[in-house]
Amino acid sequence: MAFVNDNFLNIPETYLFSEIARKVNTYKEENPTANIIRLGIGDVTRPLAPAVITALHAAVDEMAQSATFRGYGPEQGYAFLRETVVAHDYTASGIGIAPDEVFVSDGAKSDTGNFGDILGPNNVIAVTDPVYPVYVDTNAMAGRAGKPQADGKWEKIIYLPCTKENNFIPALPETRPDVIYLCYPNNPTGTTLKKSELKQWVDYARANDVLILFDAAYEAFISEADVPHSIYEIEGAKEVAVEFRSFSKTAGFTGLRCGYTVIPKTLMVNSTEHGKVALNRLWNRRQTTKFNGTAYIVQRGAEAVYSAEGQAQIKETIATYMNNAHIIRKGIEAKNLTCFGGINAPYIWLKTPDSISSWQFFDRLLTEINVVGTPGVGFGPHGEGYFRLTAFGSLAQTEEAMQRIAGWKL
Ligand code: MLT
Repeated sequence: MAFVNDNFLNIPETYLFSEIARKVNTYKEENPTANIIRLGIGDVTRPLAPAVITALHAAVDEMAQSATFRGYGPEQGYAFLRETVVAHDYTASGIGIAPDEVFVSDGAKSDTGNFGDILGPNNVIAVTDPVYPVYVDTNAMAGRAGKPQADGKWEKIIYLPCTKENNFIPALPETRPDVIYLCYPNNPTGTTLKKSELKQWVDYARANDVLILFDAAYEAFISEADVPHSIYEIEGAKEVAVEFRSFSKTAGFTGLRCGYTVIPKTLMVNSTEHGKVALNRLWNRRQTTKFNGTAYIVQRGAEAVYSAEGQAQIKETIATYMNNAHIIRKGIEAKNLTCFGGINAPYIWLKTPDSISSWQFFDRLLTEINVVGTPGVGFGPHGEGYFRLTAFGSLAQTEEAMQRIAGWKL
């Protein structure tokens, strides 16, 4: 009989958001009349933009005619989308990225999770703490994390604490890692790095021969000037950083699935046998072997996000989410709780009152006022004592949740 990948036996039995869904479903079964408001997983609630819907319909019609039908598409994504991405997200900001440095995919979760395929098993990984669990769990699956420890950390991972004391800006690592995952605007804390702060990371990576995996899934929510939308706004980043982007939160594609990854051809990493090797070529090899491309219809939908109508429509939706974020912040502050984020990101990270752990806060919020959030400790040990609320609910749900919190005996 075959053997399993034992690394899977080291990771928690369930993924964070699956565990939360399980708890909420159990509660709902036991309390069928409970009116539960879900502000846990960052899943969007507004429908797709009309411009996207029109493009999807048109693409479906193309698939119905032999003259315009499409079978397998390019694994890297269709040129129409790669070129549009480059023109809009990079060239327009003065950043020189070429279409063949862009790889279209079914989302940033898959790409950040799969990227480890092309990295050696002995790389030392650094993550901010708290952190989006995909980065840690997928490295644990690949055997790069070592064994889980009693303190909630992994043996071989370098954790960079982000706390209110350091304003959620991690200090540069004391020991040199090979790979650093950065996510800005940050999930889960909703905080950001200014350009000068991100520059320190790029400079560090350049000076120490470190690869940065930069997750920019929330860049569309940035409202302040001086917060970079792309790591390539920083000089020299094209030699050290891969950037992941997503249409999920930007344009409501959490169910439709589309994202892209940028790997500049100037980004070279080390091979034990071949000196410096271009990551772009290896990712292309990986994708052409393991991925058959994002659906044509979906890519036409993503292209429509960049049309004038599409841009106006997604901006309006983003504004409604950020209005929710504002309502949540005000409600949390009125409750005399401290909170962070929600200015350049759709997440609000609140400090639980002293004696209440993240999971206790979760249980009480669910059972006492039927509101679901995400326990901070689910994102890493330094998330203990924190709790995340998402701004992706409807306005009515958000207002109702904050009314319940206002009247809650905490
Ligand atoms: C989250 O809630 O952190 C995100 O929705 C998860 C994801 O994007 O995969």
